[in-house]
Amino acid sequence: MDSFHPHDKNHFYRAAGTAILHYVYLEKYHQAALLSFTAPFPLSSHPHYSHYHHHCMKTIIEPFRIKSVEPIYFNTAEARQLILEKAFYNPFLIHSDDVLIDLLTDSGTSAMSSNQWAGIMQGDESYAGSPSFFRFEKAIKDITGLPLVIPTHQGRASEKILFSIMGGKGKYFVSNTLFDTTRANIEFSGAEGVDMICEEGRYPTVPAPFKGNMDTVALQKFIDEKGAEHIPLCILTVTNNSGGGQPVSMQNIREVHAICKAHAIPLFIDACRFAENAWFIKLREPGYADTPVPEIVRELFSYADGCTMSAKKDAFANIGGFLAMHNEQLAQQCRNLLVITEGFPTYGGLAGRDLEAIAIGLHEVMDEHYLQYRIRSIEYLTNKLIAAGVPVMQPAGGHAVYLDAKGFLPHIPVDQYPGQALVGALYVHGGIRGVEIGSLMFGKYDEQHQLVPAALELVRLAIPRRVYTQSHIDYVSEVIIEVFNKRNEIEGLTILEESPILRHFTVKLSPIKK
Ligand code: F0G
Repeated sequence: MDSFHPHDKNHFYRAAGTAILHYVYLEKYHQAALLSFTAPFPLSSHPHYSHYHHHCMKTIIEPFRIKSVEPIYFNTAEARQLILEKAFYNPFLIHSDDVLIDLLTDSGTSAMSSNQWAGIMQGDESYAGSPSFFRFEKAIKDITGLPLVIPTHQGRASEKILFSIMGGKGKYFVSNTLFDTTRANIEFSGAEGVDMICEEGRYPTVPAPFKGNMDTVALQKFIDEKGAEHIPLCILTVTNNSGGGQPVSMQNIREVHAICKAHAIPLFIDACRFAENAWFIKLREPGYADTPVPEIVRELFSYADGCTMSAKKDAFANIGGFLAMHNEQLAQQCRNLLVITEGFPTYGGLAGRDLEAIAIGLHEVMDEHYLQYRIRSIEYLTNKLIAAGVPVMQPAGGHAVYLDAKGFLPHIPVDQYPGQALVGALYVHGGIRGVEIGSLMFGKYDEQHQLVPAALELVRLAIPRRVYTQSHIDYVSEVIIEVFNKRNEIEGLTILEESPILRHFTVKLSPIKK
């Protein structure tokens, strides 16, 4: 927290520069937090919630019924302790059938709808010119307004293609916050990734409506210093995954667009969670309460020159992704790489059936009943934890609850990876698998091999879409609160083995015994 006083709201919101709006929001937010304990998934964060509060205080229900079920696996804390040791305290090395509630990621883990499954049966597997591709292409064109669509097998394949073309030594890619695979692909090309998160995004436990915003003053300054010719691209990640699943406001997108345009820097959206971001705009940004989500989405993409997308998130698909853009020359370069890495341009890295599932999912995700339930269920879990005093990222993000591991485990120094220690404790205690988003994922070493820690030490509990019910979520909150009550027993970790890039996937650790 350094120079910032968390109790001096005035100071904070002056620093954030939008005092009035934030005060209004904060007032609402706290009332909303109180309201949320009166019913299971009550409607509380809508701008008109006072209306609902007075007239229709009803539980928000899962907007689906269940047609097919999948068992989950029960085991004991003792068994899980041994499993964790065998997995070297790395949740990526645990077998998923040893996990009770899997919150490792919301990526590729969604439940598909009966419509998507029906679409899968209609997938046309022709090598070239499949009608499934044209349905996929039309869905993306209609939703984003971006005319040139390139299918890939997942988000990072889109990134690899894009940055192989645009990257290289001496170049800077600027962003609100780059996701780890995006940053890795940029760095792999020899270029540098530069995150410029807004002031309020730096304080995990202080609520503000749009903590995913890019710092536009920093952006302008950076362009002035480095020269636009060294900045091939600006990337806005919506919602901002590494910064707590926090949304970016339309106003911020507009401002970033204006700055980029003035310097002829293209703007791409990392669009993984575009619908969740659009819902937050509808809820929180003045002027959007009555705008249908598809219109918000269309406006959001109207400021972009292109996008990268992982269809494993807001398209409810188990695999898939795409690039979309306006620039024909860039698209042709991308397709040239696509054929040697992913496949022919009408299927990329996908089967025809995947293209169908994505085309359908992209429309389904903009359903307002779905989005209301989705965002509310994350907020519901977050609020339960706040009420129990557990330090969490506030306000709730769009796809995950983020525990503030520094606040949760103040006795574990950052070079003993408090986030990873907490991940282990949640697994052993309740069979819940989360992921560290902190110095294990983003830490670097300096020349003396000392850890340069990440800005935040978070544990992400990502909620798969349409998969878990409210009782699963209640169970998760019980486990976290029990672990919180015996947090002093949790020990720090030391690294035994690691790889030079994306080390968190394969790292091996062991506890530091006191
Ligand atoms: N961008 C963002 C913002 C992401 O969250 C992800 C993936 C990607 C790009 C890469 O997409 O996995 O299809 O290659 N995030 C997953 C997660 C892995 O767990 O947050 P991908």
